[in-house]
Amino acid sequence: MNQVTHPTIEAGEKILPVCERWCANVLQLHSPEKLELLKDHVIEVNQDGWIQALRPLSTGEIVEHDYRGLMIAPGFIDPHMHYPQLDVIGSAAEGLLPWLEAYTFPTEAAFHDLERARQTADKVLDELIRHGVTSASVYCTSHPNSVEAFMQASSDRRMAMMAGKVLQDRHSPDGLRDNTEQSLRDSQDLIERWHGRSRLSYVITPRFAPTSSEAQLRGCAELAASFPGVRIQSHVAENQAEIEWVRSLFPADRSYMAVYDRLGLLQKHSIWAHCIYIDDDDRALMREKSVFAAVCPSSNLFLGSGLFDFAMANFDWGLASDVGGGSSFSPFRTMMGAYEIARLQGYYLSPSRLWWHQSIGSAKALGWEDCSNGIAPGKPADFVVIDPQATPLLQHRWNTCTTLEQKLFCLIVLGDDRHINETIIAGRAAKKSLPNPG
Ligand code: GUN
Ligand code: ZN
Repeated sequence: MNQVTHPTIEAGEKILPVCERWCANVLQLHSPEKLELLKDHVIEVNQDGWIQALRPLSTGEIVEHDYRGLMIAPGFIDPHMHYPQLDVIGSAAEGLLPWLEAYTFPTEAAFHDLERARQTADKVLDELIRHGVTSASVYCTSHPNSVEAFMQASSDRRMAMMAGKVLQDRHSPDGLRDNTEQSLRDSQDLIERWHGRSRLSYVITPRFAPTSSEAQLRGCAELAASFPGVRIQSHVAENQAEIEWVRSLFPADRSYMAVYDRLGLLQKHSIWAHCIYIDDDDRALMREKSVFAAVCPSSNLFLGSGLFDFAMANFDWGLASDVGGGSSFSPFRTMMGAYEIARLQGYYLSPSRLWWHQSIGSAKALGWEDCSNGIAPGKPADFVVIDPQATPLLQHRWNTCTTLEQKLFCLIVLGDDRHINETIIAGRAAKKSLPNPG
């Protein structure tokens, strides 16, 4: 089976001719503590969409894309979102379970229709590009057609995306509930069809423990084990009522996380959304198994789910929108929510840490830990051009800040899609050609 990687350019390998050069101040995220802005640097991109060089602009040099005065940063990554939930963003409810029942399940039930799925996939990918998000780990619905539409639309845009069919064989309405054996066969067919094709990877996606039988959950674990490189994603410990439900369904298990562990789902690099109500034993398990937490601040605030404990996170984590439980596609809103949630608990997340977990740190969730989405030779040319001067207030604050950290924090607080001047996907400008680019 094809394992999706982003190969680096090896010494001696044929170097393709430089296709285009982009010049701006380039943001380098070395670690959650260390970042740097390289003034007037040129990113050389080859025809295949890989970065070939990063160097200072030469005196008198003229480049194809001159963005001097603006900032180029690595593309943002969203390690947890539901594309079919575009149509439920902003639906008020009294918590997760009523929200799923009243809005989400009925909306998702329509995605057996390929044309409907295509229309939504196009809109969602456009919206991600508009907000500077170059990759995501995505839930489709329980219908294979929903995966077909999303994978095809991502491939058409040359985007590096990870997505999967949701599995849910119980406690789900007609039209959404799948059949245990068929759901596993469908998942396997979709892996064989899409994993490793174009810039895509497949992720096995049981919705959450309450809507899957033990047989389905075990089947997911076995399927993942038989396709090395194919990951698992699901939800865990998001909401008190959900946890009570899990306790009643799995009374013998020590915790919600322990259910997934017993059934073999805590596989290396699996992605677990929310992780709010976990204890030290769960954390130790997550660390031991090298799993990843997708933290979803705007969703947790919107649905009133709870506050993720950043101070105790001793495992890998990234920041995710969880659209449509999440209230925005914007990584600025997600980072801002994380900051506020940390503050409510007396904890401080620095601007560089927020930015790192929304980009490089989340690349790890998508399997690119050896070749994350930083801006360097041998990496894919997925980046954003940010214009802090695009609105008067941010222009004012940007110019009064004295340090890079202060400037980035003002962008987090005051920034939106108007400040994403361009989004480059595999070396090509993608935002300005959108309908109504803004
Ligand atoms: N738990 C199970 N399904 C979902 C979903 O669609 N959104 C969120 N936020 N939590 C879930
Ligand atoms: Zn979710």
